[in-house]
Amino acid sequence: MLGVIVGTFIGFLIEGGFPYFGPKLYDKRIAEGYIGVLAQVNDDVLFARTKQSLTDHGAQHLQEMEVRRYRDPRLAILAGLLVVGGAFALFTLLIFYDVISLPWWPDQMKESLVVAPLQGPRYPAPEGSVPIQGVAVVNNQPLTAPLPGTEDSIQRGEVLFSLHCAHCHMIAGEELTPVGAKFAVPPPAMTSDRVAGRTAESIFVTITQGRGLMLPLAENLYPDERWDVANYVLSLNAD
Ligand code: HEC
Repeated sequence: MLGVIVGTFIGFLIEGGFPYFGPKLYDKRIAEGYIGVLAQVNDDVLFARTKQSLTDHGAQHLQEMEVRRYRDPRLAILAGLLVVGGAFALFTLLIFYDVISLPWWPDQMKESLVVAPLQGPRYPAPEGSVPIQGVAVVNNQPLTAPLPGTEDSIQRGEVLFSLHCAHCHMIAGEELTPVGAKFAVPPPAMTSDRVAGRTAESIFVTITQGRGLMLPLAENLYPDERWDVANYVLSLNAD
């Protein structure tokens, strides 16, 4: 990218005719409104006639200038830039691909930690962090402590329930949802005998591992969210 940008910049300079080493053709009087006529003639007779003709037509100022042959150095400059730039690019590539190694050149590729596929993380999780994937239940006991059943938690649980559970489970009543009706063992209503009287832990375990025909929802809800839903279900049965 850098090469393209620099190349474009240099290209503009060359295209614009910079730098210019030829004879200076600029005359201040042109800017003042005079008209400049440039005639290049190669033989003496023609030269005299041109001069005469210009004077006859009222030329105010005649200036003779010898045409000096000069080599346009722009191509040489361009070639020089290309050689220098190419050498620089080659040099950096050789360094980056470790063909040449300089002791003071930082090699971040070598220093960075590489984690291969299926390899565990190199750094342990910070203390007190809640696992959001992997095992959440051991011996039918949740690995994280229940969240207190605050109003906030219950409110979050209500929203999560409507997203993740309500298409199968009714909150109350015998009627089944269209999805729930498909199950051989219907999903119980949340205030039914089967759910009422359960602990937050057992609801957490049910959500995490599934039970019977209910599939595990561990991938759908983070542990904290499962506790929120459990708190919500408990609150439904509280009164
Ligand atoms: C795909 C439909 C479906 C979804 C979604 C679903 N369930 Fe269930 N659930 C069932 C079925 C079916 C059963 C009955 C399973 C059985 O007894 O075989 C059940 C059973 C239960 C039970 C009773 C388990 C027991 O051991 O008595 C609870 C509690 C429960 N679900 C809670 C939830 C919660 C909370 C959610 C949302 C996070 C949820 N379910 C999402 C279908 C679902």
